[in-house]
Amino acid sequence: MPKKVAMIGTGYVGLVTGVCFASKGHDVTCVDVIPEKVEQINEGKTPIFEPGLEELLLNARKEGRLEATLDGASAIKKAELIFIAVPTPSKEDGSIDLSFIEEVSHTIGKTIRDVTDKKTVVVKSTVIPGTTEKVVGRIIEEESGKKRGIGFGLAMNPEFLKEGKAVEDFLDPDRIVIGAIDSESFNEVKALYEWAEAPILETSPTTAELIKYAANSFLAMKISFINEIANYCELLGVDVKDVAQGIGLDERISPKFLRAGAGFGGSCFPKDVAALYSHSKQLGRELILLRSTLEVNKQQPLRTVELLREEVGDLSGKTIAILGLAFKPDTDDMREAASIPIIEQLIKEGARVKATDPIAIPNAKKILSHPNINYYDKINDVLKEADALILVTEWDEYRQLSPSDLKSLMKGDVVIDGRRIWNPELFHKHGLRYRGIGLGKKKN
Ligand code: UDX
Repeated sequence: MPKKVAMIGTGYVGLVTGVCFASKGHDVTCVDVIPEKVEQINEGKTPIFEPGLEELLLNARKEGRLEATLDGASAIKKAELIFIAVPTPSKEDGSIDLSFIEEVSHTIGKTIRDVTDKKTVVVKSTVIPGTTEKVVGRIIEEESGKKRGIGFGLAMNPEFLKEGKAVEDFLDPDRIVIGAIDSESFNEVKALYEWAEAPILETSPTTAELIKYAANSFLAMKISFINEIANYCELLGVDVKDVAQGIGLDERISPKFLRAGAGFGGSCFPKDVAALYSHSKQLGRELILLRSTLEVNKQQPLRTVELLREEVGDLSGKTIAILGLAFKPDTDDMREAASIPIIEQLIKEGARVKATDPIAIPNAKKILSHPNINYYDKINDVLKEADALILVTEWDEYRQLSPSDLKSLMKGDVVIDGRRIWNPELFHKHGLRYRGIGLGKKKN
């Protein structure tokens, strides 16, 4: 049975969720406060870059199952389910900023005050455990004069979407978690997922909130773990890739998320681990593993600069080529990208930076701007006159670069592989001084 859904917030998560629900036959109204975004969506264009999304959006528009509006109240009034998908940014101290969630909860509460039908409010945003019940539920009760479970339903339904694979992840999920206050709320949300073959987990809202944070924290911890082992491998003269393969074959460990490198970035891992850590401290039960996960990740990008210094010495006046700026390949997202601390450190030490990326340069320019940083679209242009290069993001096109081309284009001969994409032997054979994260120095 198709449901009527209001999706409040058309950021990355809200838009993907709204468009995917519409593609499964539900009637979706997306709400946002930015007129340009609303216009764009109604024209069938996506404000974000995400493979497969525009096609689904166009289709949903054609079939009349999705529209965008600035008018939150009317969208709420006609919906059976109201999704909250607004941002939950970090504050300076790492704790979560719930002001958008609170604002939307006030609007929902005021709007449902005079409606007669029972609506279900669903939190999709990533929120600290307890938020759905203690913040969203409380505000809506105060504003609407209705009791949860009687006047309105309440649930939390976390997302597990990877950038660049969000549509795929949504339409073919590993699991669906629905944390609901009662079975009626649970069934309402479940009805949206009739098409999904994945297991559906029924929990409390607080459990669902924690599942989201624990999943991201665990993955982030796995990366920091292998990065710590990588740094230790360098001292022993062994290769972390062999160690990752050796432990990854144990089914209990699995080979996934064991790629050592310049550290994790993006919009989720750094923010979510910091938020959960900060919350645990507030509650007086500090999650020490999360603190370590963040500490390792803060140091990790700078490990590439240390390797560089070991080869080049004083960096002052040196020209360093940077390959890759985005936090991972196939995105132009620069949030918490390893390239930021790496380039800042190089500049601090007096180096000149020539940087390239297939699509992230416009976003990088907004964050990293200095007379000694220059951006180039072409790889050849960054390599020219470079004393050394650091590979920061493992774009496919960088994998194909041949060591002989690098050797002929660069002034110097130092290559730092921050993501371990190249074959060290091949680079050594061509007379390049290759250093990689988690690989001991070659003995001459
Ligand atoms: C992540 C989670 O995967 C997703 O489930 C959640 O909903 C949002 O956060 P995303 O941030 O899009 O998704 O990227 P992901 O592909 O998971 O990579 C995150 C970061 O970890 C990247 O900077 C990547 O380079 C790094 N990473 C990942 C490693 O350094 N090593 C690995 O083995 C895997």
